[in-house]
Amino acid sequence: MAAQRESWSARSGFILAAVGSAVGLGNIWRFPYAAYENGGGAFFVPYLIALATAGFPLLFLDYVVGQKYRGAPPTAYGRMLKSAESVGWWQVAVCTVIGIYYASVLSWAGQYTIYATTQAWGSDTEAFFFSHYLQNVDIAEGLSFVPGLFTGLIIVWAIVLLIMYGGIQKGVELSNKICIPLLVLMFIVMVGKAVTLPGASLGLQTFFAPNWSAMANPSVWLAAYGHVFFSMSIGFGIMVTYSSYLGKNANLTGSGLTVGFANSSFELLAGIGIFSILGFMAVQSGLPVEEVVKGGIGLAFIAFPNIVSTMGDTGTIIGVLFFASLFLAGLTSMASILQVPVSAVQDKLGWSKNKAVTIVGGSCAVVSTVMFSTTAAITFVDVIDNFTNNIGVVFGGLLSIIWVTWLNRQIIPKLVNHINAISSFKVGQGWVFMLTIVTPISLLVALVLSMKGLLTEGYGGYSFMVQALFGWGVVAIFALSALIFPKIKSHPSHYNHHQ
Ligand code: ALA
Repeated sequence: MAAQRESWSARSGFILAAVGSAVGLGNIWRFPYAAYENGGGAFFVPYLIALATAGFPLLFLDYVVGQKYRGAPPTAYGRMLKSAESVGWWQVAVCTVIGIYYASVLSWAGQYTIYATTQAWGSDTEAFFFSHYLQNVDIAEGLSFVPGLFTGLIIVWAIVLLIMYGGIQKGVELSNKICIPLLVLMFIVMVGKAVTLPGASLGLQTFFAPNWSAMANPSVWLAAYGHVFFSMSIGFGIMVTYSSYLGKNANLTGSGLTVGFANSSFELLAGIGIFSILGFMAVQSGLPVEEVVKGGIGLAFIAFPNIVSTMGDTGTIIGVLFFASLFLAGLTSMASILQVPVSAVQDKLGWSKNKAVTIVGGSCAVVSTVMFSTTAAITFVDVIDNFTNNIGVVFGGLLSIIWVTWLNRQIIPKLVNHINAISSFKVGQGWVFMLTIVTPISLLVALVLSMKGLLTEGYGGYSFMVQALFGWGVVAIFALSALIFPKIKSHPSHYNHHQ
């Protein structure tokens, strides 16, 4: 007999943890540059459409599947329809891979919080980041060990595993109760300071200035869908897992709307804060805002420290608040990411929490620490993140919809009834239409476009070997997990649920 499933102490504990999961590196580090690169203000239109057509419909699906079938994705989907266990394992594999590199960026944020106190990055922040901190060299020259990165990773993994050993209430819930208020406070102070800087309005104009022609570009839509998934933590198992610890009568859609709106508000706030600071930099340097922005990882770890350095003591405060926020936001998301493989194995094999954390979490920690303490850390992050998000997450979301709503048509009315019996916001034909038609079509288009781009142009100018091993190789891991894990003999409790 497997142990009683853990539960949240109250619905507010779940909402806080779900917000903690959604608000992460994606909101602070990814959204501002994704918006900027994809048409500035015009990105909001695809973003809002992606939220309405895929974000919320899939968020509700994740919630109802997890809560009704009370399991991590393989168990929950498998209980619904036996063959759907594969979908769950695809999502678990995606989540595990995300956890492995997410820890790396998280450790950079932690270490940069300390650097920010003395502005240790000096005047050439790009050289500091690549040469001094990451000791980055081309992967073709081989891999060497970087002790500084190793230390950061060990600390991050120790904290994350400690949270996991605490379990749902004393680990995940408690860490969110501490981190989220602190994060909100620090972030509001940071943004409040940022918008009063000279030049802030110039940055905000750039952020909000709509570039309508960008909307004709399919990659803008792709970016919007990809971002919404990553940011809302949907389609890769997190929300299924978190809602599996909810009680029988939890208000699902009410919670989902709260979490989704909190996540988007945070994102908007991050964009406002960061673009105010970029506006300041543009005024200081006499360059247009477009030229002070570096996309991607550079925006947080190169451009941002550079700007902070020009602000004197105010810069130190803004720098510490920014990196500490990034770290706290990322930490609560990291816990939710790791919870997915840990609980999936617990459910499948009937292991105790501690055994699953030690073996599953410990293995992730070892792989992550070994890979990301090397001179190729940033190459690994960049390539793995791209393939995992654009293929792994989107395909995982699509698979869940196809299995749940297309191959198993009689389930939809049951899910609608289940949601409506316990939730404040009722769903109806609108939700069903979105979920069964609009969302899968949008996802399919997004997937085809990104596959086409990756197959014809590759990614980021990396060598064929690097893309094959760490890009397509990772996609192969997702597929193998979906094929192999369902064949492993399950603990009897895997199939039973009393709902
Ligand atoms: N939802 C998490 C983030 O935005 C994964 O970082």
